[in-house]
Amino acid sequence: MIDSRQPTAVERARDYYNSESADHFYFQIWGGEHIHLGIYEGDTSIREASLRTIRRMASLVTPGTAGRRALDVGSGYGGSARFLARRHGLEVDCLNLSLVQNRRTLRMNAEQDAAGVRVLAADFEEMPLAAESYDLIWSQDSLVHSARRRRVLAEMDRVLAPGGEVVMTDLMASPSCPPETLGPILARIDLDSLGSFDSYRRTARELGWREAAVVDLSEQLPTHYRRVLEDLENRYDELVAGCDREYLDNMRRGLRLWVDAGRDGQLEWGILHFRKPGPDD
Ligand SMILES: C[S@@+](CC[C@H](N)C(=O)[O-])C[C@H]1O[C@@H](n2cnc3c(N)ncnc32)[C@H](O)[C@@H]1O
Repeated sequence: MIDSRQPTAVERARDYYNSESADHFYFQIWGGEHIHLGIYEGDTSIREASLRTIRRMASLVTPGTAGRRALDVGSGYGGSARFLARRHGLEVDCLNLSLVQNRRTLRMNAEQDAAGVRVLAADFEEMPLAAESYDLIWSQDSLVHSARRRRVLAEMDRVLAPGGEVVMTDLMASPSCPPETLGPILARIDLDSLGSFDSYRRTARELGWREAAVVDLSEQLPTHYRRVLEDLENRYDELVAGCDREYLDNMRRGLRLWVDAGRDGQLEWGILHFRKPGPDD
């Protein structure tokens, strides 16, 4: 029987991140362990800037978390999970849809002796996890791929223990972003909407979470994508050995859209930190 159904956002994200071109591009450009926006101070490499984001997020987490259980939602190559395990003594489960990325994560966990980092192949919209099993939910630039962000936050809430924390970043659009700017960006990532600081704050309030911090770092977005675009241009001939030319050319066009809209203040990016009330609240 012919399946005439359109693929869901989850299926599209899985196919995208499992593709050879995407895997090669992200693995090469970010330096092998990360796929998220960096915080740039001066002329920092993408890898260093990516690590700065992780450190900034980790600095918000309540100290004394050793031995606590964390879940990285949409964990890519597991770089953040290994950082949290190594530096903060957390037990981290990496929940990620892409088997290609999960294989790399398992390999790097073994190479880096990252005991305490586990990998779970799953969809963040339907987490196969018990209620209240984590003290920290961590997520970087992953919810952008969901057509059901409220559902993902509700799943985070379900698996988070009372008193637990959520620290996340996402690629978002300013509520004033005009449709003629947002449309082509959404078309390229095959989605209908982006979140915003406001929409995440609203959902967090509805779930009963307390806002601990919202750090607006939107100015980093065009810097980051300009940097990725420069690397793509400079390394095009090397990248084309592992990526389709069509993929690279589409990526180049997409990056220009993100740079332009970000420079015009129409996109948002930053850290959101929430707390689920505990027994003493
Ligand atoms: C931009 S990458 C970020 C990866 C990682 N958080 C990092 O910072 O390096 C987006 C990640 O979201 C994951 N993802 C997208 N949709 C997902 C879903 N429905 N369930 C689980 N993971 C998903 C992708 O597989 C990918 O690893």
